Amino acid sequence: MTKIIKIDKENIDEALIIEMSHIIKNNGTVVFPTETVYGLGANALSDVAVAKIFAAKGRPSDNPLIVHVSNIEQLDKIVEIIPVKAKILMDKFWPGPLTLLFKKKAIISDLITGGLDTVAVRMPSSRIALKLIEACDLPLAGPSANISGKPSPTTAEHVIKDLDGRVDAIIDGGDCEFGMESTVIDVLNETPMILRPGSITLEAIAQTINTVIYDPAMIHDTLIAKSPGQKYIHYAPKGEVYLYIGVPSDIIDAINQATARFINESKKVMILGTEENIMAYKEGIIFNLGSRTNPMEISSNLFSMLRKADELKADIILAEGIDEEGLGVAIMNRLRKASGGRIINCGELI
Ligand code: TXA
Ligand code: MG
Repeated sequence: MTKIIKIDKENIDEALIIEMSHIIKNNGTVVFPTETVYGLGANALSDVAVAKIFAAKGRPSDNPLIVHVSNIEQLDKIVEIIPVKAKILMDKFWPGPLTLLFKKKAIISDLITGGLDTVAVRMPSSRIALKLIEACDLPLAGPSANISGKPSPTTAEHVIKDLDGRVDAIIDGGDCEFGMESTVIDVLNETPMILRPGSITLEAIAQTINTVIYDPAMIHDTLIAKSPGQKYIHYAPKGEVYLYIGVPSDIIDAINQATARFINESKKVMILGTEENIMAYKEGIIFNLGSRTNPMEISSNLFSMLRKADELKADIILAEGIDEEGLGVAIMNRLRKASGGRIINCGELI
């Protein structure tokens, strides 16, 4: 049985936090809200507890977990050293949605890291998350709280849909502020590299440490990604997702033509369009992702809308691509994965 409790982030009930921390200390699993997406938490120092995370999610064992800390003492206990560049980034972005790789100490088991000698760590800014970690007095392993392959959960309803009956408890802390996962960065090599684009943009990081690049595998499918999670099909609803990229006016025409064709084949079609173009779509179930000038709005809507596709039993999801800069890089990374390679180039602007 999964215990589901509500905690108001503006008025946190300490007794409930303590109750949840007891579950974690007893090697149980507790889903907790963060500012990015919901996390499936367990004691990062216990293999028994960590194994329950992999089982609940159906996650491949070679895909390592992020460890969440609430203070630097916890970090010192699990990593060998804090490189200068990591310190600079932590000072600027912690607590918040930036995950950094460190050389792990032996206390972090291979189960968490999928056999790698690095461990990915972040300090979330969500007050509920911080209070829970503090009450446990332990680092918490916490992948996104979805069944492996599904879009990450940004509301407690999403979590309940995926994990009710599979975890010990779920803390309902309301909607996640960002709705997009943290950025994963590796600063252990000469040139810092973003392994997974996320809520903190490359542009914001570059203001702090100058040189930073994306993992080339993000752009070239033939290369092997340094972040094991990047190689899996992910964020995918049950229906087929088609991603349209290029000139917006050509995208509109192509989506309208495809919609007519699929409807003709008796398929249920959902369109994920941007606010600027939404009036130009003629048929299908039309959803407004948000404005092209406000990628934060699009990123906070995206996972909810991909999940809506399943609720509505859409056979086909036609999504408008956006500019791949700033937060647009993370949004397009998730849409590309959701599409499983069904990407249609429209016009020349690519
Ligand atoms: O915002 C977030 O990061 C959320 C919240 C709950 O904190 N967590 C999250 O975790 O998205 P997860 O497990 O769904 O994604 C972790 C990503 C995966 O792509 C994984 O491969 C990568 O981080 N990762 C973890 N440890 C790594 C390591 N040592 N080296 C390279 N990539 C790593
Ligand atoms: Mg995930």
